Amino acid sequence: MFNTITPDIQLDMARLPRHIAIIMDGNGRWAQAQGLDRSAGHVQGVTTVRRITEEASRLGIGYLTLYAFSTENWNRPQAEVDALMHLIATAIERETPDLIKNHVRLRVVGDRSRMPADTLARLDRCVADTSAGDGLTLVLAISYSSRWEITDAARRIAAMAAAGEIDPSAITDDTVAGNLATAFMPDPDLLIRTGGDMRVSNFLLWQIAYAEIYVTDTFWPDFQPSDLRLAISDFQRRQRRFGLTGEQVK
Ligand code: FPP
Repeated sequence: MFNTITPDIQLDMARLPRHIAIIMDGNGRWAQAQGLDRSAGHVQGVTTVRRITEEASRLGIGYLTLYAFSTENWNRPQAEVDALMHLIATAIERETPDLIKNHVRLRVVGDRSRMPADTLARLDRCVADTSAGDGLTLVLAISYSSRWEITDAARRIAAMAAAGEIDPSAITDDTVAGNLATAFMPDPDLLIRTGGDMRVSNFLLWQIAYAEIYVTDTFWPDFQPSDLRLAISDFQRRQRRFGLTGEQVK
């Protein structure tokens, strides 16, 4: 008999990514593969959100950003949009006591103007109730796209310039980064995409400039804590050079 026990994935706890961002893809394909409605995939996806948040928190990861709903997702069939909004809001409301217990702080980034009032109210309540959390910061990107975010930042910087509050020649990388919705957190070190597609889908385009990218064929509903550890261990085997030579970073 072969030993079917998966060897534990050893991680260097001193070199964990400070910020992990995840494109949670494959809910629909997971559901279709089992002859279920797409919405069943999203329901199962929420279960994965819970276990991956727990694992990230247990490992001591600083920030976990999840792409829960993109600007482009507004163009999906209305019933799926409504179901997703409802699912996200009810899950967040239900999980709030556990988030507080585990010192998790929730933040939301995205275009609030397009979100249903009821969803916004529930998310805002959880953000307020978890604001004292000093452990993992869980960031939900909802009604989010990088192009929306960068355009919004450009608009605000232009308004400051027009008002004479900033000199256009003094605009730097930091000015742009400081006006993004994500200004409160460091850039992701590791970007994970489930579902096998090799693309970044308008997610954190500015912020992933030097992120390590990890794509797995596993659909999001099947993604396990051991898969997260595998992605982190892959990240730990890479040499991050930030544009320098291998010799320079040694
Ligand atoms: C992509 O799968 C997934 C989404 C558009 C939604 C992800 C949302 C959740 C997992 C729920 C999040 C809940 C909380 C509480 C944050 P897809 O439908 O595009 O899958 P496909 O590529 O197989 O069609």
